[in-house]
Amino acid sequence: MSDQNFLFTQLTIDERIAQVKETTCLTDEDLQLIKSGTALTLETADKMVEHVIGTYSLPYSVAPGFVINGKKITVPMVGEEPYVVKSTTAGAALAAKNGGFTATNTGSMMIGQVQLAQISNPFTAKLKVLERKQEIIETVNKVDPVLISFGGGCKDVEAYLTDSPAGTFLDVHLIIDVKDAMGAQAINAMAETAAPVLENITGGKANLKVLSNLAVHRLVRSRVTVKKEDLGGEQNVDKFVSAWNFANSNQFRATTHNKGVMNGIIPVVVATGNDTRAVESGVHSYACYGEKYRPITIWEKNCNGDLEGMIEIPMAVGIVGGTTKMHPLAQLSLKMMDIHSAAELAEVIATTGLAANLGVLYSLVTVGLHGDFDAARK
Ligand code: MEV
Repeated sequence: MSDQNFLFTQLTIDERIAQVKETTCLTDEDLQLIKSGTALTLETADKMVEHVIGTYSLPYSVAPGFVINGKKITVPMVGEEPYVVKSTTAGAALAAKNGGFTATNTGSMMIGQVQLAQISNPFTAKLKVLERKQEIIETVNKVDPVLISFGGGCKDVEAYLTDSPAGTFLDVHLIIDVKDAMGAQAINAMAETAAPVLENITGGKANLKVLSNLAVHRLVRSRVTVKKEDLGGEQNVDKFVSAWNFANSNQFRATTHNKGVMNGIIPVVVATGNDTRAVESGVHSYACYGEKYRPITIWEKNCNGDLEGMIEIPMAVGIVGGTTKMHPLAQLSLKMMDIHSAAELAEVIATTGLAANLGVLYSLVTVGLHGDFDAARK
């Protein structure tokens, strides 16, 4: 653990709050609301979901000291598991010693999927859908004028054939730019609107009309270089890379490796009011996209003997609509990070996953989960 991280762990709750105030734009009032544990009222909870009889609290922690694309960020993390925030902060501190993380994203395109069944000539139907792409796009873009006014909406239509024991389905993908929303509502509404048009074009029957959580057009990437000196020497870099190679060749280990990455990701998804299940299903599906199940981070040694790490995952999160707007702490979490776009939030979330993986793997290959992190680097 870095000295700074060690010190933060030793502070009292009020001292930590004072430090968060110093390093973020949160006000005393904001911080008191976080501390109070009563930010989500019963009335708001009752509007969020059905059958409410109470609310349920979890620890709200912070991981200070992240540097992402040159910006210093204190990351909010909501979760119940001990050690996770501490080791994620340790990972962030290791990265910061060499300039921090570099993160990018591929934009905010999601997939709305329409399953068409009972098509006698699926190959012809597929081509007919592609021929009438423009008409489909224009029809579904009438669904959400607000999204269109922000430059979003359906931008493309793709069509695939899926063979199954129950016959061949035509799988139509509406490629929809959801901008700063997670997008589920708009996508589902657009898929439902497309269904009768697609039935008309293909002569088939539309069955499922819903988004796909495998958001391969909404990827986020982050990478980091950690100097061998900061890891206690090249022998520790080698152990680290060996641990990754084991995960890359062994599904039992890859699953746990990925759990360690999700330890960083999910607490930020919760803190910002986003959909944990959408992120989980997307990331795990991407872990075996097109090939075997594999670790969702990669670690390798560069020609200087330093450690290079990276992550690439789908990240369907938003900063507008739903719980992100209704839960008062979700808005404060964004304010803490000074985040104003879903794409930047996605970059921070993926980076937190990479930091969690860095911190915990380093402990595992050196002093063990509860050992003295600093001792390993000396
Ligand atoms: C525990 O929550 C996460 C770890 O199992 C991750 C890992 O083994 O890489 C420690």
